[in-house]
Amino acid sequence: MKVLRVQTIASKSKDAAIPVMFVRGETEQPGITTVQGVNLEVPIIDFSDPDEGKGMFQIVNHEIPSDVIRKLQNVGKEFFELPQEEKELIAKPAGSDSIEGYGTKLQKEVNGKKGWVDHLFHTVWPPSSIDYRYWPKNPPSYREVNEEYCRYLRGVVDKLFKSMSIGLEENQLKKVTNGDEMHYLLKINYYPPCPCPNLVLGVPTLTDMSYLTILVPNEVQGLQVCRDGHCMIRSNGKYKAVFHRTTVNKYETRMSWPVFIKPKKEHEVGPHPKLVNQDNPSKYKTKIYKDYAYCKLNKIPH
Ligand code: SIN
Repeated sequence: MKVLRVQTIASKSKDAAIPVMFVRGETEQPGITTVQGVNLEVPIIDFSDPDEGKGMFQIVNHEIPSDVIRKLQNVGKEFFELPQEEKELIAKPAGSDSIEGYGTKLQKEVNGKKGWVDHLFHTVWPPSSIDYRYWPKNPPSYREVNEEYCRYLRGVVDKLFKSMSIGLEENQLKKVTNGDEMHYLLKINYYPPCPCPNLVLGVPTLTDMSYLTILVPNEVQGLQVCRDGHCMIRSNGKYKAVFHRTTVNKYETRMSWPVFIKPKKEHEVGPHPKLVNQDNPSKYKTKIYKDYAYCKLNKIPH
C-alpha cells in the first residue's frame, strides 16, 4: 500500500489549504496554545564543569566537533531531498514490528490527527543491532558520517550517565540492563514548510520512551516544552521526562536528529534497585521494555 508522505502533501499545499487530518483542535493548535513573549531558559550543562541536570538541558563543551554535526545534518538533508521513489526503497515495511525505516506516522494520534512530519529511524549502536537495510545508500557518505557522529555521541552519553549517577557508584545508572549495551536509535525528523503553521503540530505532545535523548536540531526553531514533567522511571522520579511537542515553519524546513538511548527490547525497565528503599519506595512497576513501549505508543495505561 502506498503511503502518502507529508513532504509530498506539503509540496502540493502551497496555498493556505491543508488536509483537515492535520488541523489540530483548539486545545492543541500552536497559534492558540503557545505562551507568547516567554523565552524559556534551558539549563546549560558544561562538560568542562560537570553538574547535575534535570529534564531538558543544553550541553556545551561536549567535544563533538562542529564539522561532525554539520556533516550529519548535510547527509540527512540530502537523503530527504532525494526523489520520493528513492526514499521509499528504505521505507518501513507495512506490518513490520520494528520501528526502523523511512516513514510517516508513528503514534496512534489523539482524534486521528496527523503530525506534519516524515521521519527515518535506524539503530546506530551497538553494531550487533544495526540493520543497514534502513540506512540510506545515498548520499554515499551517509554511513561513514553517521558512524563518526555515533562514536562521539557515545562519549557524551558516558559522561552524562556519570554525571547523573545520583548517589550510585559511577556508571551504575548506565549499567541498567544486566551490564548490557544501551541501544542507540537515531531518528531524523523532516518537517516541511506548512502554509498554516498555527493549526498543525509536527510531533504532538509526548514524553520520550528512552532513558536519554540527545537532540541535534537544524537552525529552524520549533521544539516546545511543557514546564511540568513526568518522572523518569529508572531514577525513580529524580530525573524528569519532559513533555514536549514540535511546531513547524511556514517557509522553512525544520529538521532534527534525536538519538534515543534506551534498553534493548527484551530488557526490564524499572527503578534502579539501589534507589528504592523504605523511605523512597518504587514509584513504577518493572516491565519489559518492549511491553512498556507498546503501551506508550498505543496510549494504554502502564
Ligand atoms: C522528537 O522528539 O522526535 C522531536 C524533537 C524535535 O524535532 O526537536
